[in-house]
This record gives sequence, structure tokens and C-alpha cells, in this order.
Amino acid sequence: MVELNTVFFDLLYLLAAVLFIMGIKKMGHPRTAVLGNLLGVVGMLIAAGVSFAIILENDAIQNSVTLPIGTIVGAIFIGTFFGTMLATRVQMTEMPQLVAIFNGVGGLASVLVAAASLLAAEEGALHVEVMVAGGISGLIGGVTFVGSAVAAGKLLELAFFKKSIPLPAILRHLLNLMMFAGCIWCIYAMVINGNVTMNFVGICILGCTLGYTLTTPIGGADMPVVIALLNSYSGLAAAATGFVVDQPVLIISGSLVGASGIILTSLMCKAMNRSLLNVLFGGGAASAYEEDDEVYATVIRTSPEDVAIMVDMADRVVFVPGYGMAVAQAQNAVSDLAKQIEERGATVEYAIHPVAGRMPGHMNVLLAEADVDYSQLKALEEMNPDFDEVDVAIVIGANDVVNPEARREGTPVSGMPILNVDEARQVVIIKRSLSPGYAGIANPLFAADNASMLFGDGKAMIQDISTALKELD
Ligand code: TAP
Repeated sequence: MVELNTVFFDLLYLLAAVLFIMGIKKMGHPRTAVLGNLLGVVGMLIAAGVSFAIILENDAIQNSVTLPIGTIVGAIFIGTFFGTMLATRVQMTEMPQLVAIFNGVGGLASVLVAAASLLAAEEGALHVEVMVAGGISGLIGGVTFVGSAVAAGKLLELAFFKKSIPLPAILRHLLNLMMFAGCIWCIYAMVINGNVTMNFVGICILGCTLGYTLTTPIGGADMPVVIALLNSYSGLAAAATGFVVDQPVLIISGSLVGASGIILTSLMCKAMNRSLLNVLFGGGAASAYEEDDEVYATVIRTSPEDVAIMVDMADRVVFVPGYGMAVAQAQNAVSDLAKQIEERGATVEYAIHPVAGRMPGHMNVLLAEADVDYSQLKALEEMNPDFDEVDVAIVIGANDVVNPEARREGTPVSGMPILNVDEARQVVIIKRSLSPGYAGIANPLFAADNASMLFGDGKAMIQDISTALKELD
């Protein structure tokens, strides 16, 4: 009976693992992403359900339950309650902070599970590989927990997390290296002298401190990469804990998160033309700018009525959305204006920069919400060669991703591929002021000969253009 159940449970774990893999595959395209997410949820439900059933069975048959059932049910209830509340209440613009918090609690959970398992074991009963995996979980989980808290704090713009570490970079790197070496030494000591408690606590303290010292100096436009990397770390910590508690489904799901996080990190580095080492240890490039007043001396203002005339005469119009579109929640207004322009005979496309907004796929999600057809969304490499054939490019709430300063050496955005909006025949930039974007630097596009600024809230301005366009009939 017990063996039959074991086989059945293993098969269910296998099914959960297959669902995780299929889910990740489906998440590769916006059209199938919802299904992918659902497959992941079902996989997780099966895995959690089977783990719960195993505990019940152990309780009934072997009388070896380690936790009261009430505690487990209570924990599931609390987790479900907070998860549902956070997921339903979070604004789209706050999603990166939420992801950072989820990564952090994932890292903490891995450390706690590994700790419970290591510390509950009888002296001398732990295998070397279990102690090593536990140590790795403590280190990576600690880095993930505190690093994610710092990342979330920075994104929430909390004053405490804006502080830098008052040490020269070289000393900081040396300190980090010493802490890392300290962790490795603790793992070694744990294996050699069997003193699990002291060494594991040491690893956790050093891991948490490393999470703080590694993440705090990173800022500005590099934060998305850090969040993707921490996501990967949370997976690796879970996989290491999987080895500690001998749980293959945790090893598989953790490895999937770890691998997909690393792939996302590398894609984002590529999109910003930065190496990961440069992002993590390079610090922001020192800016050497002219005064903003000088850059913006030739800025031209426009009005919704003038923009309506421009698009009325255009054959090809491209919207370039950025973070400001999310802030203004202008996606539906943009989609309505696009339909209006199409009805007048012009082609409308959307140029999507891979790091526009504040999270990977941010613009895709918003535009999907507004029922924009995927075929109209053009990726950077697809759109850039065509910008010189675009009659009107309407930049809505984007700044860094269209900043020609990226083509110049020595700026914080140097080398980042940008959308070549400045090559369009006419460019309209909708934003509330001339204030900088995420990287904090001036944007000479705003003062280009073919560009004009439409100052105001993104949604209100798009609606005003729509109204003006209707009045042209
Ligand atoms: P940003 O460079 O951040 O610029 C956004 C612009 O939107 C601002 O200049 C702001 O100007 C404008 N804006 C804000 N609220 C607005 C509103 N209600 N109506 C109209 N405009 C509004 O955005 P971007 O071009 O999308 O670039 C993204 C940046 O964020 C990059 O540097 C990227 O590396 C970084 N980042 C990306 C991510 C991911 S993964 N996508 C995550 C974190 C950071 P006003 O204040 O003048 O209106």
C-alpha cells in the first residue's frame, strides 16, 4: 500500500515538473503566456497537494509527522491570503517591487527550510552533500532575501535604501570577496568539524550582509537586471534546499527558475549593451553633460490640434510607449487613437523597446490589456531599420529608450540600443515636462529639428488628439 502510494506520488511530482516546463515554454510568447501561467499554477497545486498528502500518510502510517497539520493548513491559509491580496491590489507600475518581494520571501523560505532540516538532524547523521547544499542555500538565500529587500526599497523610493555605502569601490569589492570566502570557509568547517548550527548561522549572516553590500551600490537603470538576477538566485536557493530535504520537485522547479532567471538577465544585459559584471560592479558611468538649458534651447512646443493634422496627413504612424504611458494609464486611449488613425487610412505600429517601462514585457502587457493586436507590436531590431520611412513617431512617456545620448561615449546610457525615433520624418514627444527619465540625464531628442513636445499627462494629451482628429471631419 505504502509503495503503491509512493509510486503514485512520484508520478504526480513528475507531472508537476512537466507542467512547470510546459508552463515556462508557453510563457515565451504573449499569446500563450496566460495558459503558461495556468499550467505553472496547476503544477504547483499538484506539488503542494502531494507534499501535504505525504505528510498525512506519514502521520497515519508511520506516525512520523514533523509538524502539526493545523500549522501547515494555517501557513497555507496565510500564504494564500497575502498572495491573493498582493496580486489583486498591486498596480501595474508596482509590479517590479512585488516581484522583488516575492524573490526575497522565496530566498528566505529556502533558508528556513534548509535550516529546519539541518538543525533537526541528529549529530553526525548528515551527509557531506546535504551540508554543502544547506550551506549554499544559506548563502544564496541570504543574498536573495536581503538583496531583494534592498531592490524593493529602492524601487519604492524609500530614503533608507537610497543611501550608498561610504567605502571606495575597491574596498567594497575586497570586503565582498572576504565575506564570500568566509561563507565558503564556514561550509568547509561544517563538513570537517560537524558543527552545523554555528557555521550555518555564520553563513546566513554573511549571505544577508553580502545581499546588502552587493545590491546597495547598484542603482538607476540597472535595477531591472538585478531583479532578474535575484529571481534566478531565489530559484538556485530553492534547488539547493531541494537537495537538503531530498525533494526532486523542488530541485527541478528551483533549477527552472534559476535557469530562466539567468537567461532573462543575459537578454536584458544584451538589450542594454552591458555585461553582467559591468552592471553588478561597474557603478553608473559618470555623467558629463551640458546644462539642460543648453540642450533644450531649441525645443519646439506643439498642440493636440497640430498633432491631429500631422497624423491626418500621415501614411505611417508609430507609437513609442514608455514608462510614462504606464503612469498615465494611457494604453486604452492610445489604442482608441490608433484605431481612429487606421480608419483614416494610415498604418499604425508600436515600437517596443525591451527595457521600456519598469519590468520586462511591461509595454506588451499594457498594450495587450488595451486589445492591441500583437502583429502591430514591433521589436527594436524589427522597427529600427524602418524609422526613416515613418511619417509620425508619437513618443508617449518614453525617455531613456529613445535618448540619442546612448550613441555617445561616457554617458550612463552609453551603448544601450535605443529606438531610432530621431530618424522619423516628424517626432512628437508627449510628457509633462522636460524632466529626465530613469537614468537621470537630459535627452537631446526633445530639441531635435524634426521633434516637437506636447506637454501634459499622457492620457489627457492622447484623448485631446483624438478629439481634435474627430473635429477635422
Ligand atoms: P523613462 O526613461 O523612465 O522615462 C519616462 C518618462 O515618462 C519620464 O521622462 C516622464 O517625464 C514621463 N512621464 C511620467 N509620467 C507621465 C505621465 N503621466 N504622462 C506622460 N509622461 C509621463 O522611461 P523609458 O523610456 O520607458 O525607459 C525605461 C527606463 O527604466 C530605462 O532606463 C530602463 O533601463 C529603466 N528600467 C527598466 C526596467 C524594465 S525591466 N523595463 C525596470 C526598471 C528600470 P515627465 O515627468 O516630464 O512627464
